[in-house]
Amino acid sequence: MASDQPLFLKNLWYFAFHGSKLKKGKLVQKEILGERIAFGRDAQGKPFALKDNCPHRGVPLTAGWFDGTTIQCCYHGWKFNCSGTCTGIPALADDKLDVNKIKVYEYPCREISGTIWVYIPQNKLKLEGADERLPNLLLDSSEKFLHVETVTMPTNIDHSVIGLIDPAHVTFVHQSWFWRSSKNLKRKEKHFVPDELGFKMARHKPSSNSKGYSVLKGGTSTEINFQLPGNRLEHIQVGKNEIISITTLTPLNENETELNHIFYTTIGLAKFLWTPLRGLGRTFIGQDLGVFQKLREGLDTNPTLMLVGDPDQQAKWYYELKKSWHKSVEEKSPFVNPLQPQTLHWIT
Ligand code: FES
Ligand SMILES: [Fe+2]
Repeated sequence: MASDQPLFLKNLWYFAFHGSKLKKGKLVQKEILGERIAFGRDAQGKPFALKDNCPHRGVPLTAGWFDGTTIQCCYHGWKFNCSGTCTGIPALADDKLDVNKIKVYEYPCREISGTIWVYIPQNKLKLEGADERLPNLLLDSSEKFLHVETVTMPTNIDHSVIGLIDPAHVTFVHQSWFWRSSKNLKRKEKHFVPDELGFKMARHKPSSNSKGYSVLKGGTSTEINFQLPGNRLEHIQVGKNEIISITTLTPLNENETELNHIFYTTIGLAKFLWTPLRGLGRTFIGQDLGVFQKLREGLDTNPTLMLVGDPDQQAKWYYELKKSWHKSVEEKSPFVNPLQPQTLHWIT
């Protein structure tokens, strides 16, 4: 199942932080797709993302000072505004040089419903179409997501995505009193349709053997959507109320992927029970992390792997989508979703 394509997808938006992690007056370095980026908020609170190298001699800007308006490099004190334009070079004795011509690369960066996203371009000088590809988080922009958890998976983006959309591990990895046990298995039938940059599992009643869902009485239905580069969005309707649960995967580098889980609900009781609910979410993610640490060990010897049958079909689709995305970027042509509607069966 090894893929001969490049590991990283460009010209896409990646989840960087839950908004609460980015405080005014602070610069935060984060590696995304192997690029080091300095994130901050400007005086208006708007997030920005700059290449984390001073254009003078490359020292990380995050090693310098930031007063909420001006970033100053710690080496020779060059100053930059929040869009990366140089505003001053302290050691220059004459003002013949137009320092404003010196720029730090600025990545497109947006805050959507309390979450911060950054666009990683293939060609840093060409950004057309970036805004059209902003992720749809299924939520009105005036509403905000809560942060559940952030963990670093010790695996590359491909293994991490496959783990995220893999139905068969649930029986064995997520055995717990609040979810389900491996003694209570059922044959499942799921209908899938291609959707934007991925595919979606048509709206259905949640599994009757999932205790986690059975507490949500009355007209419950769920729709699960996967979108490149690695976002899984679940929308649950409970009568008039809704729950949105999103897991994002952001490649930090070729060996590590950050998983973030965000959550939104209109159910008042869930806000009241937020601390225990968040605890359950974290337990769930901790179970995945545990098996991924074992997987990391297994992958060290570079074994041959396989994708078998319907339970692994979504992983095959992921590779097909990736291939099509790479092609559209390389050929500068519109993305064509290569998938067809399909019904899959598995026992979980
Ligand atoms: S390296 Fe930043 S000012 Fe010289
Ligand atoms: Fe899992």
